[in-house]
Amino acid sequence: MVCRPLRSLGLLALLAGAHADVTVYHANQAAFTTTTALAPNATYTGPAAYNPVPLARPPLPASGVMTTIPVQLQNSGTVGMSIKQKGSFLGFSIEMSVTNQVLGKNSTFIQVPFLNLMANLQQRAGSVMVRVGGNTQESATLVPTLDKGRILEKNLTGVTGTTQTPPLDFTPDLLYLMRNISGMVNVHWFMGVPWFVTTPFDLGLVGAADKILGDFLLGMQAGNEPDMYVLHSHRPATYSPFDYGGEFSDFLAQVEAAGVDPTGRTRRSLIGPNIANFAWTPEQVWDSGYVDKFAANLAYLAVEKYPRDNCAFAFGGPGANVTDPQSVQGLYLTHDAHKELLAPYLNSTAYAQLKGKPFLMFETNTGSCGGFNGISDSFTAALWGIDYALQMAHSNFSGAMFHIGGQNVFYNPFTSPPTNESTFHQWTIGPLYYTALAMAEAMGPSNNTQVLDLQIQGLSAQTPVYGIYENGTPVRVAIVNYIDDPSGANDVKAVISIAGGTVPASVKVKYMAAESVVTKGNITWAGQTFGGHFESDGRPMGTEQIVDVPCDAGAQTCTVPVRAPGFALVFLTDAALAEEKQGGPSKTFATTAQTKTRNTATVESGVLATSNGYRMSEHELAGTSKRPNGALALRLPLVAVSLGLVTAVLAVVAAM
Ligand SMILES: *[C@@H]1O[C@H](CO)[C@@H](O)[C@H](O)[C@H]1NC(C)=O
Ligand SMILES: *[C@@H]1O[C@H](CO)[C@@H](O)[C@H](O)[C@H]1NC(C)=O
Ligand SMILES: *[C@@H]1O[C@H](CO)[C@@H](O)[C@H](O)[C@H]1NC(C)=O
Ligand SMILES: *[C@@H]1O[C@H](CO)[C@@H](O)[C@H](O)[C@H]1NC(C)=O
Ligand SMILES: *[C@@H]1O[C@H](CO)[C@@H](O)[C@H](O)[C@H]1NC(C)=O
Ligand SMILES: *[C@@H]1O[C@H](CO)[C@@H](O)[C@H](O)[C@H]1NC(C)=O
Ligand SMILES: *[C@@H]1O[C@H](CO)[C@@H](O)[C@H](O)[C@H]1NC(C)=O
Ligand SMILES: *[C@@H]1O[C@H](CO)[C@@H](O)[C@H](O)[C@H]1NC(C)=O
Ligand SMILES: *[C@@H]1O[C@H](CO)[C@@H](O)[C@H](O)[C@H]1NC(C)=O
Ligand SMILES: *[C@@H]1O[C@H](CO)[C@@H](O)[C@H](O)[C@H]1NC(C)=O
Repeated sequence: MVCRPLRSLGLLALLAGAHADVTVYHANQAAFTTTTALAPNATYTGPAAYNPVPLARPPLPASGVMTTIPVQLQNSGTVGMSIKQKGSFLGFSIEMSVTNQVLGKNSTFIQVPFLNLMANLQQRAGSVMVRVGGNTQESATLVPTLDKGRILEKNLTGVTGTTQTPPLDFTPDLLYLMRNISGMVNVHWFMGVPWFVTTPFDLGLVGAADKILGDFLLGMQAGNEPDMYVLHSHRPATYSPFDYGGEFSDFLAQVEAAGVDPTGRTRRSLIGPNIANFAWTPEQVWDSGYVDKFAANLAYLAVEKYPRDNCAFAFGGPGANVTDPQSVQGLYLTHDAHKELLAPYLNSTAYAQLKGKPFLMFETNTGSCGGFNGISDSFTAALWGIDYALQMAHSNFSGAMFHIGGQNVFYNPFTSPPTNESTFHQWTIGPLYYTALAMAEAMGPSNNTQVLDLQIQGLSAQTPVYGIYENGTPVRVAIVNYIDDPSGANDVKAVISIAGGTVPASVKVKYMAAESVVTKGNITWAGQTFGGHFESDGRPMGTEQIVDVPCDAGAQTCTVPVRAPGFALVFLTDAALAEEKQGGPSKTFATTAQTKTRNTATVESGVLATSNGYRMSEHELAGTSKRPNGALALRLPLVAVSLGLVTAVLAVVAAM
């Protein structure tokens, strides 16, 4: 039984309407609820990001799985390893309209939990890639100032109907905020050029980003999912990859003519084609001559892909065919799903190598339009995310970014509290943040890491195993056990051997654990946790636990147990473990002061409404021609939420 303190009276009120059993305890004005007492299909009407309702546990595998797994590594000569990967492989994509909730209120008021979350990753991987963008970048306009010192605001002037995404206005201070963050933690940024209107392009961001972010800007997206522009009525039906290439030329010419890129940085750090494999395949873009023509301009090739969408839930309105998360749970607990999702890109990652371009998964997550309750926000997603990230690394992607929306989505790696609760609540750390921590350690900071999905004879798709190499030598092994079996019958043992080498006396192992794949909150990575909903200031709680597993010198094997469910990262050498501490200075930012009075600044309610990485937010749901009027209002609490910020004394930088 997980008994989590629930310090939000607001949330309790929301839970009161639930059909299911809710056990409520009252103690010293603090309220506690036993979240596991909620039935799997209990009704909860609060913001998705804090939904406590779990799914039912998945069934056990129908047939017996191989529980003693021979992991036969070779000290050299391994075939099929990925290209060399960086520690920063796994980053985040933050919907532009919620940056003031996630990054900070302005350039001098930075979200301390965000800094801590980035510092944790920097310590392990050296640096972090963050993209600021998404649907809302497409109509984002740089304005000199906004009312009440805001850094962004939705401009509803002239917006009619519900299918039109209102333009987002932002000030240069958003860029100063990003630049200031980079001064404290080693975060490098991606942004995107608004691409809906090309005659002329709005070049405001191009000039300002170059000037303010400088080398902290890794790249600038040339269009976001252009293969969905026709569907969204932003282009005529004939719009093709060739036309997109034409716009790319126009953009370069306009940038040059306007003189907004004096260093030439933008024109050599563009990212394309950023398609969603919706109307175009990557090959159709490659075959249009795009990469050769713009070889000097493209710093990265990129795509965006989610395994499926939950748009009917987010926008469908009455009569929509909403996917029952329980019915797709199994698709998040198998290695095969990742292989299927990525198979269409293997030709393109090979092509990218040929052309000397890194290939990114620019925006992804468990499901577009906010993800799925009980999947995106449970231990399921943590395991899914590790396997997915490792599979992308194996498949020769050079990086991937998990998307972050507002309070109304399930899939956030981290979420700030609702603003009216920011004085007594902290952040909610989601399963995909644990994925990012584990992935940072799996890769390490050498920038020289290669990944191989080990094809072990007879291995279950529910227990994938990866070898991780540096300079051709195995240094770490990653083992996922997706099976949810409290009996222990499906715990596995990885029996590691190294041909041409000698096993060490013992190996060090870090585990990721939670009671069940359906567990929300309180996941642990090497014994440390960020707690449940509203419990984190971005620093891991508890003492790090690294398990020492002795090896068998006679048999030359190291046998590492992995619980069902669970994840293990095995460090084959002490150097492989020590490496993780070399990623950079370990600093944390203490929250020494909290807001005592309510912040008065507010985000327009509409900003939240499009804040979800709603890839299909303005597009008619499959099978219907129009999103029903008012569907948005039905699903999304359109409240003006003031900014949930924790002020902090940034000068307090304590060495860990
Ligand atoms: C969280 O998990 C840890 C380790 O599994 C356990 O010791 C602790 O009691 C849990 N806490 C809560 C509030 O469930
Ligand atoms: C915060 O605002 C939400 C939405 O209006 C409301 O449901 C909740 O009760 C509020 N919380 C507090 C503590 O006032
Ligand atoms: C709730 O879930 C149970 C089984 O998990 C199912 O039998 C029941 O029909 C569900 N109720 C609703 C209202 O969906
Ligand atoms: C940033 O926000 C804080 C808190 O509202 C405010 O005190 C400060 O003046 C703002 N700074 C700027 C440069 O607007
Ligand atoms: C952040 O940016 C502002 C520019 O608005 C600058 O004045 C300030 O010194 C920067 N640094 C910090 C730590 O706030
Ligand atoms: C809001 O949009 C309207 C119509 O496009 C425009 O005229 C106006 O300048 C915009 N306001 C701001 C503050 O950018
Ligand atoms: C791989 O991509 C290249 C370049 O676009 C294309 O010519 C080739 O047909 C593709 N191969 C497959 C198997 O799709
Ligand atoms: C839901 O599915 C049914 C059966 O496939 C179909 O007839 C109906 O049009 C769908 N509804 C919507 C809103 O797509
Ligand atoms: C990744 O690239 C390497 C080096 O080119 C190659 O040997 C390997 O087969 C590729 N992996 C996949 C899954 O395509
Ligand atoms: C790894 O790559 C990052 C980003 O390109 C760079 O900042 C860092 O110095 C590199 N680390 C090493 C050890 O080369």
